[in-house]
Amino acid sequence: MVTFPPGFNWGTATSSYQIEGAWREGGRGLSIWDAFAHTPGKTARGDTGDVACDHYHRFREDVALMARMGVKAYRFSIAWPRVQPAGYGAANPQGIRFYSDLIDELLAHNITPWVTLYHWDLPLALQLEIDGWLDPRCAAFFRDYAALCFDHFGDRVKHWITFNEPWVAAVLGYGQGSFAPGRVSRDGPYQAAHQMLRAHALSVDLYRTRFAAQDGRIGMAPNCDWREPLTPQAADREAAGRAVEFILGWFGDPLWFGEYPESMRARLGERLPRFTDRESGLLRGSGDFFGINHYTTHYAADAPGKQPACVGCDPDADAEAAFSLDPAWPRTAMGWAIAPWGLNRLLHWIDRRYGRPEIVITENGCAMEDRLEDGRVDDPGRIDFFKGYLAECSKAIGEGVRLSGYFAWSLLDNFEWASGYGKRFGLHYVDFATRQRLPKSSADWYRRLIAANGF
Ligand code: GAL
Repeated sequence: MVTFPPGFNWGTATSSYQIEGAWREGGRGLSIWDAFAHTPGKTARGDTGDVACDHYHRFREDVALMARMGVKAYRFSIAWPRVQPAGYGAANPQGIRFYSDLIDELLAHNITPWVTLYHWDLPLALQLEIDGWLDPRCAAFFRDYAALCFDHFGDRVKHWITFNEPWVAAVLGYGQGSFAPGRVSRDGPYQAAHQMLRAHALSVDLYRTRFAAQDGRIGMAPNCDWREPLTPQAADREAAGRAVEFILGWFGDPLWFGEYPESMRARLGERLPRFTDRESGLLRGSGDFFGINHYTTHYAADAPGKQPACVGCDPDADAEAAFSLDPAWPRTAMGWAIAPWGLNRLLHWIDRRYGRPEIVITENGCAMEDRLEDGRVDDPGRIDFFKGYLAECSKAIGEGVRLSGYFAWSLLDNFEWASGYGKRFGLHYVDFATRQRLPKSSADWYRRLIAANGF
């Protein structure tokens, strides 16, 4: 029997561009993902989020699906261009109304909203006018947008996440160009991430001062795959440690210590921007909890002098680490290795490095080759995935890690970014011809897990 402490926070998660659709309704402005997905060749089969799961019109039905599973919390994101179409200026009342109604519907079902302010859909105007996250002004625009959200929703929302996976937004968006806005450059990721960190710092400061009376909590949701040393040799152990610092320490260290990891500064020098003293001060201690998105594990080996395969293509080259997989590890439909023990090690890494913070798993889940047969979707592979990863969570808690919650990715099959609708991560199957939802067997399993607080 795998058990969890009383009050463990069971949830599920989504993001705006991946589910909402209604891309030109309700006064919504365009985002960099609209432009990217509409550019030929950028997404599988040319899929876009124009309609997605049509959650904008079906959110009450989706809240009912959550209530049926008995989740205690729902993590969703606000589309910045829906509430502030150009990224600055007056709020769009219809956008405010949509999220306000969603929040009310959740609360009416006893589901606590956890709101992400940025899950990658930057207002397109900010990309075109100031080059998005490459411009320091973007941080101040973000702070103003955050203020608008605290102002309109903070009476009911007490859990905020500033950024979802800034590593992905910076590296894939401004380095490799495989995600919006599709920029390719060597140092773009370090510059973009720097502005996201500044934006985080400014917003948290504002939340804790001007909005202190709202009495909520705020943090970030960086991602980290685990990097296991390929051999027990010191060089590989150091490479694996460095690789985790280049993914997670990049964000965790500024939030906890006010500075980038030493290993990054040593290898990147002035390619890595610097925080002012004031910024370091604002960053230090700017997470009320440690959010973490986790999907997979790789081996890491020391690779001194590793050269990137092409500009922006290989940011891990900067960490001088080479990654590989054990062919024996099972894989998800994304090709990602299933290695639950990696999550246990990652939780301990966070626990040690940051002095036992409260940790919340803000995403974990898998794509599987789901098939609709006889009106049912049986997904035992996904249930096994959850069992494996949750057993490691429970073990970590037993070992003293302060893990307080888990959000399964995702409530629904949705627009999986550059992979389009071909990759299904949902607890609920979505027929993208009719937009009908159907609980997979994993949704029923998740309901029983929550009811029993274990399995
Ligand atoms: C994360 C991301 C989600 C989701 C998931 C599965 O990187 O935050 O939006 O797509 O991965 O790939």
